[in-house]
Amino acid sequence: MSGYFATSIVRLVPGSRCYSASAVIWSLLGCLLLFHLYSNIHHKHGEGREVQLRASNHPQFRELQQVEEEIIQLPPQKGKRSPRAAKRRHKRVTPLVDEFLDEDSRLRHVFFPGNNSAIDPVKVTGNDSYYYYPGRIWLDTDRNPIQAHGGGILYDERSNTYFWYGEYKDGLTYRAHKRGAARVDIIGVGCYSSKDLWTWKNEGIVLAAEEMNGTHDLYKSNVLERPKVIFNDKTRKYVMWMHIDDVNYTKAAVGIAISDTPDGPFEYLGSQRPHGYESRDMTVFKDEDGVAYLIYSSEENNVLHIGPMTEDYLNLMPVMRRVFVGQRREAPAVFKHQGTYYMITSGCTGWAPNEALAHAAESILGPWETLGNPCVGGNKMFRIATFLAQSTFVLPLPGFSGSFIFMADRWNPSDLRDSRYVWLPLIVEGPTHHSSEYISRLPLWSRVSIYWHRKWRLPQGWSTFK
Ligand code: GAL
Repeated sequence: MSGYFATSIVRLVPGSRCYSASAVIWSLLGCLLLFHLYSNIHHKHGEGREVQLRASNHPQFRELQQVEEEIIQLPPQKGKRSPRAAKRRHKRVTPLVDEFLDEDSRLRHVFFPGNNSAIDPVKVTGNDSYYYYPGRIWLDTDRNPIQAHGGGILYDERSNTYFWYGEYKDGLTYRAHKRGAARVDIIGVGCYSSKDLWTWKNEGIVLAAEEMNGTHDLYKSNVLERPKVIFNDKTRKYVMWMHIDDVNYTKAAVGIAISDTPDGPFEYLGSQRPHGYESRDMTVFKDEDGVAYLIYSSEENNVLHIGPMTEDYLNLMPVMRRVFVGQRREAPAVFKHQGTYYMITSGCTGWAPNEALAHAAESILGPWETLGNPCVGGNKMFRIATFLAQSTFVLPLPGFSGSFIFMADRWNPSDLRDSRYVWLPLIVEGPTHHSSEYISRLPLWSRVSIYWHRKWRLPQGWSTFK
């Protein structure tokens, strides 16, 4: 027996216990709680149609904000290691990341749990339903592992359905060159639909690789990453933007595709270098006023660029801002809360995990300010490795103001198809927070926190608040 293990401890928030047994006190407390909940319901600005419950005051969200520790005992640094892992070691910040990248690690089952612990919504019933287990294999309704890496989610108001798009990577992992990154040939963009954000039906490959024409952007030995879809209210088209590259990542472009329906097929329109610049990791963001933006890592990943799209979302306006200059941020995921824009980014270390940062801005075009590492719980090494994952998207939870799902990829560089999903609750709330490293000169921002949980679920009945 190796004796290496991981345990999870929940530290309860002080003051949450009640010792009284008196029925009168209980009823009084009940009334108070109801009153408290009621007083936290507030109407959205503007038309005021949607009832919003502040996430931080909902009892089940409060549970999600409890700090859950994760104790991972690392094996000693000696012994047999793959030569590749040994070479990498000196470059990595944390021993946990070394261990994670070691294909022969004795903790492999902790980072990449096996089939028998897969999340299987078809099989699971009753009390075990709707639980997310970050890092476990997640099966679709055909009971195959979901293939939607580097993905994003669109809520389709026409069908009241969520669509999850991502890289379909169910192929062989190999290196095109000795020094090149591990890769899987393009298969296409996978699409899954769901009503509950837990049970996902495979809608097939909605944008497929090109098998024959070697000059086509989607030719299988090129790169298609981080596809994101938004709906254009004016043209009624679903528009997909994605990172398009060649095998050596020198093309550095964005591709655009459209469809009349969310489940495709999407028609590929072509690629471009946005504003004439390189573009690698990217995302899109559709604002409340219908203006959409492209956010992309540029200038050899040294600078992030942000610019508005044209009205039809098929092109870019000649407006662009450079942000986080020299900071080498990628994997951007943008979201908005009460008029403030937020972004989560990662550093640039290929498939290896690194530290996430949260950023905030009053205008999406900046200036952007860095708030610090949003990860809460787990343990220190876990937090500086974004729970061994990399940001890809942040999904707002309708009905719960300030609550989001943080979606990240736990890449498995030795077998990319077996990369896992790390979904965790992200909550934006006061009071204002600044780590000592990031001193604020701009307005005081709310705190952005991503809470580690080995197992969690959305508050029951959340969808009825939509
Ligand atoms: C990462 C990036 C991924 C993929 C990978 C290839 O930095 O976030 O999307 O491009 O590099 O090594």
